[in-house]
Amino acid sequence: MEVIIKKDYDDVCSESALIIEEAWKRKKNLVLGFPTGKTPLGLYEKLIGLYNQGGIDFASVMAFNLDEYVGLEESHPQSFAYYMDRHLFRHVNIKRENVFRLNGRPGDIEDHCRSYERKIQEVGGIDVQILGIGENGHIAFNEPGSSLSSRTRLKILTPETVEANKLFFQNEKEVPRFCLTMGIGTILEAKMVLLLAAGKDKAESVARAIEGPVTASVPASALQFHARAIFVIDEAAASGLTNRDYYRWAYENKGRALDLLKIVPLKIRD
Ligand code: PGA
Repeated sequence: MEVIIKKDYDDVCSESALIIEEAWKRKKNLVLGFPTGKTPLGLYEKLIGLYNQGGIDFASVMAFNLDEYVGLEESHPQSFAYYMDRHLFRHVNIKRENVFRLNGRPGDIEDHCRSYERKIQEVGGIDVQILGIGENGHIAFNEPGSSLSSRTRLKILTPETVEANKLFFQNEKEVPRFCLTMGIGTILEAKMVLLLAAGKDKAESVARAIEGPVTASVPASALQFHARAIFVIDEAAASGLTNRDYYRWAYENKGRALDLLKIVPLKIRD
């Protein structure tokens, strides 16, 4: 794992955008996995900025949404489909046919999840899976206890999530109890995983994910198995890490290490 510690949230987003831009320069038909939530909003703004400046062209980029509530139409303002459209897709030249979403109202849920997994395989897999992390260590909607080899599937939301979501719905009956989410096994198959975290509320889950034991109780700890997992975190989110001075040192010396290896930084291997 690579741990990149940046001063603040804005720097976390800039660094992450740079990593994605570098990946795109090497593979124009980059396949990206996108999360929702508060954390990636700044990154999406930076990606839109890069697009407007000609840094990234999304014409051949493919996108997979990480998760979705069950029961909501794509047009519902609380659906993840709507979120991605509002915060990124409608601002760049990504082609509609290159955006793949979990459908919150599928006919046959199991069949839909299987075909989503198949679609990921058909396009050659996800090159960069972007992630946030929950305060309880979840990634996507894989809450603590999720199998570390899980695939895309139906999950039951925690009572806390359902309660918190009530704010966003006019009608309580509309508040989703279920979701569809890529599994931890699905995420681990991405060629690169880029996890962003900012703020002291994330310090404990970040420390458990990076330095704790690998356990289903902390789903993000499964990323310790990933050969190309990058955590880009701010000082506050890094505050619980025992080895943070080493991570800083390693990052400062990365250029020299890459020179020794004579490899191009951030290369996505097919
Ligand atoms: P947040 O959510 O970005 O809104 O903090 C992250 C997550 O729960 O995965």
